[in-house]
Amino acid sequence: MGYIIALAGKGGTGKTTIAALIVRALKEKKLGSVLAIDADPNSNLGEVLGAKPGDNVGAILDNISVDPNKVPAGMTKERFIQHQVQAAIQEEDGFDLLSMGKPEGPGCYCYVNNVLRGLMAKLIKDYDYIVMDNEAGLEHLSRRTCRLADMLIVVSDASSVGLKSAKRIIELVGALKFEVKKSFLLINRFNKGTQKDKIKETGLDHLGNLPLEPQIEQLSLQGRSIFDLKSGAQILTALNLLGDQIWKHN
Ligand SMILES: Nc1ncnc2c1ncn2[C@@H]1O[C@H](COP(=O)(O)OP(=O)(O)OP(=O)(O)O)[C@@H](O)[C@H]1O
Ligand SMILES: [Mg+2]
Repeated sequence: MGYIIALAGKGGTGKTTIAALIVRALKEKKLGSVLAIDADPNSNLGEVLGAKPGDNVGAILDNISVDPNKVPAGMTKERFIQHQVQAAIQEEDGFDLLSMGKPEGPGCYCYVNNVLRGLMAKLIKDYDYIVMDNEAGLEHLSRRTCRLADMLIVVSDASSVGLKSAKRIIELVGALKFEVKKSFLLINRFNKGTQKDKIKETGLDHLGNLPLEPQIEQLSLQGRSIFDLKSGAQILTALNLLGDQIWKHN
């Protein structure tokens, strides 16, 4: 059964960057097979991971809903969707990638969402780790197509506003009774000035902090991948120190 590590947090706090860093760490440590899921419709996890552009699930579903005749004779619609989504999984060096995108069409997606739910449940079993990057908004959480996470990392910057947002996210997760086994607060671009009481007020266990990493700023400006980050980078050392709590499990 795949171990799902999901990232949530306010916009721009570093969810995608951290998801990519975790994928890199899992790959380098050879901890098992990894599926990276880009669940943000404004997908950029693939780019940060240096993956080639590929199909996304939303576009596949749109295509089928616009033209149901696309389903080949002799194949059920359900089987066809499963087949197409499976084909959209990109095999990269050391990990696979699936971009969810977002259906744009006016159609009703209840049916396809159900199919997707079944498919995700199956996919999760095929990998040792699933690293899921989510969009900043919270509303998508209520139409999730798989159980939320074994490990939910709520990312915040060091600001008071960021920490308040982390608190709201975890309250929503509780209110919607999502299946989350463990959840932690991870502060990105940590600043020594962060007030401890504000961290405590989030109600989350504080996993640790990641520093501002000038190399990441450079890579991002140049559109380069997280794998171009030098192995001695401070942020990698900091993440690896937290690693046991993030990816070790029984
Ligand atoms: N620790 C860090 N040091 C330096 N730059 C960082 C760090 N973490 C993230 N960044 C940069 O900050 C920007 C936002 O990060 P990222 O895209 O990971 O955030 P996000 O939470 O996924 O944003 P969104 O909500 O828009 O999806 C990016 O340009 C990224 O390169
Ligand atoms: Mg992002």
